[in-house]
Amino acid sequence: MQVTMHSEDHIGYVTVSNPPVNAIGQAVRQGLLEAVRWAERSRLDRVIICGVGGVFAAGADAKEFDAPPLEPHLPEVLNAIDESFVPWIAAIEGVALGGGAEIAMACRMRIMAPGARIGLPEVTLGVIPGAGGTARLPRLVGLQKAVEMITMGKPIGAQEACSAGLIHAVEEDPIEAAFLVNSEALGCIVPTWEYHAPAHDPDLLHMARKKLQAKMAGQEAPLRALEVIEAGLSLPFHDALAQERRAFLQLKTGPQAKALRHIFFAQRAAKAPEPFKGSSASEVQHAVVVGGGTMGAGIAYALLAAGLHVTILEADAAGLQRAEDNIGKIIAASLQRGMIDAARAADHRSRMTLSTQYGQAATAQVAIEAAFEDMAVKHDILAKLEAVLPADAVLATNTSYLDVNEMAARLMDPSRLIGLHFFAPAHIMKLLEIVRAEKSSDRAIALGYGLAKRLGKVPVLAGVCDGFIGNRILARYREAADTVFMDGSTPWEVDEAMVEFGYAMGPYEAQDLSGLDIAHANRQRQAPTRDPNRRYIPIADRMIELGKLGRKTSAGWYRYPGGGGKVEDPIVADLAIEEAHFAKISRTDYSGQEIRQRLVLAMINEAADILHAGIAQSASDIDLVTVFGYGFPRWRGGLMHYADSLGVETIVAQLEVLAQEDPVAWKVSPLLRSCAKAGQSLAEARPK
Ligand code: 3HC
Repeated sequence: MQVTMHSEDHIGYVTVSNPPVNAIGQAVRQGLLEAVRWAERSRLDRVIICGVGGVFAAGADAKEFDAPPLEPHLPEVLNAIDESFVPWIAAIEGVALGGGAEIAMACRMRIMAPGARIGLPEVTLGVIPGAGGTARLPRLVGLQKAVEMITMGKPIGAQEACSAGLIHAVEEDPIEAAFLVNSEALGCIVPTWEYHAPAHDPDLLHMARKKLQAKMAGQEAPLRALEVIEAGLSLPFHDALAQERRAFLQLKTGPQAKALRHIFFAQRAAKAPEPFKGSSASEVQHAVVVGGGTMGAGIAYALLAAGLHVTILEADAAGLQRAEDNIGKIIAASLQRGMIDAARAADHRSRMTLSTQYGQAATAQVAIEAAFEDMAVKHDILAKLEAVLPADAVLATNTSYLDVNEMAARLMDPSRLIGLHFFAPAHIMKLLEIVRAEKSSDRAIALGYGLAKRLGKVPVLAGVCDGFIGNRILARYREAADTVFMDGSTPWEVDEAMVEFGYAMGPYEAQDLSGLDIAHANRQRQAPTRDPNRRYIPIADRMIELGKLGRKTSAGWYRYPGGGGKVEDPIVADLAIEEAHFAKISRTDYSGQEIRQRLVLAMINEAADILHAGIAQSASDIDLVTVFGYGFPRWRGGLMHYADSLGVETIVAQLEVLAQEDPVAWKVSPLLRSCAKAGQSLAEARPK
């Protein structure tokens, strides 16, 4: 039974019981409808509805979204609650999201626990509210607040909900408070559906539309939600519901909703697989971070925020000062943004030790080196850590490109080393690549997964290769961008094409942020082993010669005069014209569509090789890497989900055309060929 009911002294208690989050599936809808009839038959004074496990309800069961909707539909159930002569009171603990919030809004009264959250996050799943949210919320909180909550999808806390008029009270024990509500007072509250819709406000809606077009470009649901809210304002309540439902059902089966559901469930499925379950990470009290640069400081802060004691080791006093400053800046920024309060900041600082003495690491259960990308430096640090840490402590490297097998080979016990590849800024970015070297023990990998969970990261297992999963795809993306640039475009045309695809910024602007010197060091490291038949684009090296290293030098692919916004730089555009002239290339004028096609196909082809070689375990893991680490548009479902939406056969055909131009760079991945032949999607493909 997913909905239980009982009554005491004419008060009905209805409990939604579908743990862990009380998702509203067919059985819950059926149970609620029966509860309405039961309460009416029993002539109850009121019904108090709550959810088991300290959660009201997290919304419609998104697992049902791929199938045709089953009766009774939620709008019908909620109309029955709203129109019943027995008043319902929502006693909200935990979350009331999506359909959960819609249930609450159909009740006569809403009481929330202080820590609870309520909201309509449907747009984050590519849909709009489908059970009256766009009609009931504006009636309760006014147009402005409703537009903001529905189009941005961000839930709000109890106090804010109370100030906005969405709920009636904030109480420690909402069920008890609902029990104590005076019957007469309850009887005076007008059912939500009888409220008048707020007045039309063309200026407000115009501003909201402009904001969404800028902030959520490419995404269908937020703008559609706005249209539906607007249309609903001048319709009778039930007609407003009907047009909302039509839009919801249409979006639900569309490509963006499917892509967003895919990422939602892939993120939740990113847990330790069988041999790596049962980690001892919960026992980790003390972690060491070697290196307090940007990356090390971000990692240290993430560990502090997860409640660990953290020792940051640096080589000398200057290094210690830098580490302290870097972590201090993160703490200050977190305070300023209201993410932590002063007490929390003081607590973080109290668990942090800065030292040059490796002896301070002696009690740690895990150490993460985040030092300079140089094999000799890494060997030295890992040897020192191995000498002082307990024998069962796990050692990790945050290297982005270097060979983890080579690092392990110099250790007395290579099984204790793994890669933990964080993404800058490490305390914010969700992705964590857990790199499994040849000799890494299952226990060490399990600890990596356990730590990821404690830090709230999305873990993805990666094998050893140059760049692991994410940076290897990134290198190919940049190579394709540089080729397009050299052969006919400008960095700004490339960036614009990729922003139109859905990236927040294009590859050149992004590289200006991270610095051109890192990629340069990599190219130099790779030079001895580079395939001599592969075309090499020298423009980025010319940039280094010119001292254009990115934002930090106020000039990279763009100029940043006075440290301000980006400005196109004709000198940079000329570099490509010069290099093309030396190489006797007649340049082509690529359209945005052609640029996008080349860059995206290059990534898909590389990702297929990565999957084929077992560096990634599944296409869905690659989707997580590209979305959570590299800004691939979430609403396209990640790189491989997007590739499957194009169709593997189409991709192979397009790559074959490009291979006529350059058979080395565009060599079709064997995995793509075998999938095309077998009629298999990339989602179904497994490493060879
Ligand atoms: N449908 C189906 N399953 C859901 C779900 C949903 N709406 N929300 C969560 N789950 C599942 C998760 O997949 C996970 O399953 P697993 O244990 O098998 O991996 C489990 O519930 C626990 O979820 P989380 O791991 O995310 O737990 P957290 O405690 O970290 O977060 C949460 C809980 C804040 C509720 C978060 O899960 C969440 O944001 N859920 C989605 C909320 C949402 O978008 N609701 C709108 C749905 S659409 C809708 O309601 C349409 C309506 O207008 C008609």
